[in-house]
Amino acid sequence: MNHFLDIHTTDADDLRGMIDQAQVMKEARKGLPKGTPDADQPLKNHIVALIFEKPSTRTRVSFDVGVRQMGGETLVLSGADMQLGHGESIADTARVLSRYVDMIMIRTFEESVLQELAEYADVPVINGLTNRTHPCQIMADVMTFEEHNGPIKGKKVVWTGDGNNVCASFLHAAGQFGFDFTFAGPPSLDPEPEFVDLARSKGVNVVIERDAEKAVQGADLVVADTWVSMHDSQSTRQRRHNLLKPYQVNDHLMEQAKDDALFMHCLPAHREEEVTSSVMDGEKSVIFDEAENRLHAQKAVMRWCLGV
Ligand code: CP
Ligand code: NVA
Repeated sequence: MNHFLDIHTTDADDLRGMIDQAQVMKEARKGLPKGTPDADQPLKNHIVALIFEKPSTRTRVSFDVGVRQMGGETLVLSGADMQLGHGESIADTARVLSRYVDMIMIRTFEESVLQELAEYADVPVINGLTNRTHPCQIMADVMTFEEHNGPIKGKKVVWTGDGNNVCASFLHAAGQFGFDFTFAGPPSLDPEPEFVDLARSKGVNVVIERDAEKAVQGADLVVADTWVSMHDSQSTRQRRHNLLKPYQVNDHLMEQAKDDALFMHCLPAHREEEVTSSVMDGEKSVIFDEAENRLHAQKAVMRWCLGV
């Protein structure tokens, strides 16, 4: 049994194996109706709890559909409706759920909730996003990059805007998959120094750049995300907009990157804020492949967790 809590705490060969398996599983389903069961049904007789303490479209639907395609069943639970949201401890919740279900995916606020759930659960726990990280997203992103432009190893990834949870998982992935990482944003929104140091200790060329145009020179991949995340106070919105406006991904910025550079965004996006519609809908954008690949990548993650 394996927990999938973070990219940097998961073995690099195992991560590679999951990406490769996801690609094979995706190929095998090409052209089939979405509800067609996978031939091997690896999750037959398994029940997976999907707990959401924050909103979600992609994570909720992709996990639910993925489990069903693999022959399992899901329970989609809102944290607020559980006793967890009314004072029951995380440890007790973990012990109880382990008696009913075979795996737990949770989207929550504090990373400590995820860690405690994993510590006390007897079944695998998957990180479906915390305030600090979003590893499932980056598994889909690596898969998407490689599908379009080949191995990500040695490539230059440029993150624009807020050094948030998705940015953190990209930094973790840089260490595990061996790509260069440039952060383009203002000093007050830098990624956590601990994550930068960790990536550098693994030999990643991490560059912190204040000038967006300089940052994207020679980029193979340009990434944007919302300027205000779900866990951020809405009162920061105006200040962040002023701070981050110079980091908007628009056609002019994309022209500074390599000719075959890709654009990614985990979605949901705020069109004309962190990215223009012309980029989102342009030929370099792979945002909907990225969204689709959440499904395939997470199916491989779930198989790895259960060893099936
Ligand atoms: N990218 C992502 O995790 O989307 P949702 O918030 O819709 O799940
Ligand atoms: N950084 C965003 C990602 C959403 C999928 C957030 O945490 O709200």
